[in-house]
Amino acid sequence: MDMIGVIGAGQMGAGIAQVSAQAGYRVLLADVDRARAEAGRAGIGKALDRLVAKDKIAAAARDAALALIEPVEGPAAMAGCALVIEAATEREEIKRRIFAEVGAVLGPDAVLASNTSSIPITRLAQTAPDPARFVGVHFFNPVPVMGLIELIRGLATSDATVAAVGAYAARLGKRVVRANDAPGFIVNRVLMPMLNEACFALGEGVATIADIDAACRLGLNHPMGPLTLADFIGLDTCLEITRVLFEGTGDPKFRPAPLLVKYVEAGWFGRKTGRGFYDYAGPEPVPTR
Ligand code: 3HC
Repeated sequence: MDMIGVIGAGQMGAGIAQVSAQAGYRVLLADVDRARAEAGRAGIGKALDRLVAKDKIAAAARDAALALIEPVEGPAAMAGCALVIEAATEREEIKRRIFAEVGAVLGPDAVLASNTSSIPITRLAQTAPDPARFVGVHFFNPVPVMGLIELIRGLATSDATVAAVGAYAARLGKRVVRANDAPGFIVNRVLMPMLNEACFALGEGVATIADIDAACRLGLNHPMGPLTLADFIGLDTCLEITRVLFEGTGDPKFRPAPLLVKYVEAGWFGRKTGRGFYDYAGPEPVPTR
């Protein structure tokens, strides 16, 4: 498996393309159009430049990785790929459209994987060209830094598919954990209730934003406090995943915190919109409460 396709050149897709190219895979990178794919590649170039500046990689390794990434017009260009990873927007109808497009050209042995953080793999597989060759590969943000991949098999996913994707993940140097197709898989099942609970605590006036975050950073040795992490992931994404846990399990312990819902309704999604629990307009994030 030497050529892979990555669909979605945003934060996750670009990260996946970067680490794949650094592992020596040739990568076709697609987004809604070629310009977005080109922009994704340019961002990867900057990320690799930073690694060179910090002496983490040699300039020749940067050039070699970047040369392996080819922006393409769209999924239809991915006929020759042994593995195609979809890392597009977390909306089911968008993913369905992509699967139909890529399904029309995908080779008879090629594997289609989704980086979905919350949509059931078995359900998504129904819209894929072949449910046996469909699997979940869940990366974590920032992809080049985080050492984990969750590998999720749907009901119909074949052993050969799991083995192929497991070999790919291992070549990236990531630790692979296998999860069943249950809501939130492993990490989000454990993480989102904590982030949601921090929102409840803030909403109930237990402590300030700065103190909730400091408490978890220093009291639990977490690299980021839960409200900083929620802003980093995106409050819209956190709410979406929490709703999947709530609806998928029917368990009231997963009910979304009203404050989280309010922030999302206000369009305060965190870092990506410049405001969430923190304001990102200045050089340092400032707590808003
Ligand atoms: N891309 C690439 N590298 C990055 C990066 C990025 N976006 N952000 C930080 N880094 C690198 C830095 O270059 C630095 O590398 P070095 O040690 O080799 O010099 C290293 O990471 C540490 O960065 P900093 O010193 O700038 O800052 P921190 O020490 O605060 O680390 C962090 C930043 C790695 C983001 C750390 O705060 C962290 O691990 N936070 C938690 C992240 C997390 O939990 N992610 C998972 C989210 S859940 C998810 O993704 C699932 C989804 O479905 C919701």
